[in-house]
Amino acid sequence: MPKKINFVSANGFTEMAIDTNLIRQDFPILQTQVYERPLIYLDNAATTQKPRCVVEKIADNYYKENANVHRGVHFLSQVATEAHEAAREEVRKFINARHSHEIIFTRGTTESINLVASSFGRLKLQPGDEVIVSQMEHHSNIVPWQLQPGVEVRPIPFAEDGTLLVDQLESLITPKTKIISVAHVSNTLGTVNPIKQIIAIAHAHKLPVLIDGAQGVPHAKVDVQDLDCDFYAFSGHKIYGPTGIGVLYGKEEWLNELPPYQGGGDMIDQVTFAKTTYAALPFKFEAGTPDFIGSTALAEALRYVQKVGIENIAAHENDLLQYATEQLKAEVPGMRIYGESVHKSSVISFLVEGIHPYDMGTILDKLGIAVRTGHHCAQPVMDAFGVEGMVRASFAMYNTREEVDQLVAGVKRVTKLFRRM
Ligand code: ALA
Repeated sequence: MPKKINFVSANGFTEMAIDTNLIRQDFPILQTQVYERPLIYLDNAATTQKPRCVVEKIADNYYKENANVHRGVHFLSQVATEAHEAAREEVRKFINARHSHEIIFTRGTTESINLVASSFGRLKLQPGDEVIVSQMEHHSNIVPWQLQPGVEVRPIPFAEDGTLLVDQLESLITPKTKIISVAHVSNTLGTVNPIKQIIAIAHAHKLPVLIDGAQGVPHAKVDVQDLDCDFYAFSGHKIYGPTGIGVLYGKEEWLNELPPYQGGGDMIDQVTFAKTTYAALPFKFEAGTPDFIGSTALAEALRYVQKVGIENIAAHENDLLQYATEQLKAEVPGMRIYGESVHKSSVISFLVEGIHPYDMGTILDKLGIAVRTGHHCAQPVMDAFGVEGMVRASFAMYNTREEVDQLVAGVKRVTKLFRRM
């Protein structure tokens, strides 16, 4: 019998009250047939599907409220502006920021991190300075820091089971360390990092902290005031919202201090050829026409998530994680799961001995099962385990135990096929 693991989701929610039959009715795409089989969508860490209300909100906005925001005195522009700013307020409430002007709309987590790296970099980073990240970061929380001239990026390592070795953080901090930037949840290992502890350690050294929350916000209640993080970044499309819209939360003091990221319309106060002054927050960081359709659709997605209840979603996903882990280990010979930290979110990355991840992913696809294959934009994680890539199944609120059974049956089938060859 495989070792029984009791995973603990980010906030430790265990009581589940979710009716997947009802929820699935809100996601028309889940009725799709793939190669004449029902779609089993297990690539949610890459992007989630969208409930009908989000898709309809996008259409409705274009049909009824489409006008550029912050620019017109005309009726439609005012309606669009109010909706866009109400969306900002919805995001503020969702993560419990102190002020709505601490919410910056971006294109996604990647742009949010690039914004901080670039603006913080110009203000605070000199060649030879150091930025601490973790060894399990997505490339989007490594490369933006490497783009800052002469800056060294130092990783906090993780243990064999994917748990971050936080006790090594203190020894990585030097007088040259200027900021700590870590993932809330690893997109590959599923590890839920002890970000509150990391933030406390960083602040004791007077260092600001950015949290990459792309894989955190969809699965856990996030309260940025309680965390006391300086920046928190996430994407709309991973939390049932549209692509192309994301959020950067920043503490007011930091956002006031940092220089603008991009220049253009809306982010200015006065422009002359000699000198430009900048708009107040949040507009200082939002050059150009913002994605006011995306922001309102994101707000709709957040309302949907709150209706279902983030604690219910987390508990349901934790049940699927637990069940899938046990079944895959018990049923598939040669199965190796990467990332078995006790604090884990609903992501299972695995390999079956002797089977290339692309072969596994391609054949699973023919069975209607969508999983991600490859390095998952986390090559240092692959290097740590000495592999080129992995297969990843990731769960969302609408997945079911029956789908997990199909995944396990599919993986077994592929394994048998290869064992016979
Ligand atoms: N960051 C996304 C993933 O983990 C694309 O798949």
